[in-house]
Amino acid sequence: MERNKIIVAIDGYSSSGKSTMAKRLAGDVGYVYVDTGAMYRAIALQCMRSGVMTDTTIDETKLPVLLQTCNITFQRVAGAQHTILNGEDIESQIRTLSVGNAASRISALPIVREAMVKAQQRMGESKGIVMDGRDIGTVVFPQAEMKVFVTASPDIRAQRRLLELQAKGEQPNLEEVVADLADRDYRDTHRSVGPLRRHPDALYLDNSYLTPEEQLILLRLYFKSIAGE
Ligand code: DC
Repeated sequence: MERNKIIVAIDGYSSSGKSTMAKRLAGDVGYVYVDTGAMYRAIALQCMRSGVMTDTTIDETKLPVLLQTCNITFQRVAGAQHTILNGEDIESQIRTLSVGNAASRISALPIVREAMVKAQQRMGESKGIVMDGRDIGTVVFPQAEMKVFVTASPDIRAQRRLLELQAKGEQPNLEEVVADLADRDYRDTHRSVGPLRRHPDALYLDNSYLTPEEQLILLRLYFKSIAGE
């Protein structure tokens, strides 16, 4: 018997491992996975490329048109999910420290959040989706049947980010990564629109000392208790 599909909303701090977890859960239960951080990164990249954003300024008057002309989709490439912006595969370009920082700045703007939230809500219309971000359980899908809030200690998250960036060929030092993470945590939790918050219904998961496999077992059990599969 075909069960009713649900929405899974996973929110949490940067480098908490929530994307890895969300991706694996989606694969395991046959749901669509949407990485909303990648959407903010894509907008940031477009802003940087077009000069709408510099290291210190954002020309907000140009944003309405820019947002209308950004078509963000996801595509499977060699078994991995890639972000596509207006037909161009931008996956490797959006994973740098500088685009991450730009995404953190641009995502604080209400006009940007409004456009992204609408696009994300459309993606979840037929349910059967695992979406991760900062405001999924609180703003995008407060009605999501399964909500998880993920965190890990700042030291462990910094180590994870360092390894991730090194794997991509960047050479940041640990102090730089720790400072960057602290800035990002501050911005994510203090912006006026859609700040990172735990929805009261969300399962609080500190994965500092859990392996990805242990997390998947836990989430799979939680999913089963809600979706019945
Ligand atoms: O998850 P990430 O590091 O790829 O996200 C990049 C930035 O986008 C991050 O600084 C916070 C922001 N973001 C957001 O504001 N809301 C979301 N739903 C997802 C990401």
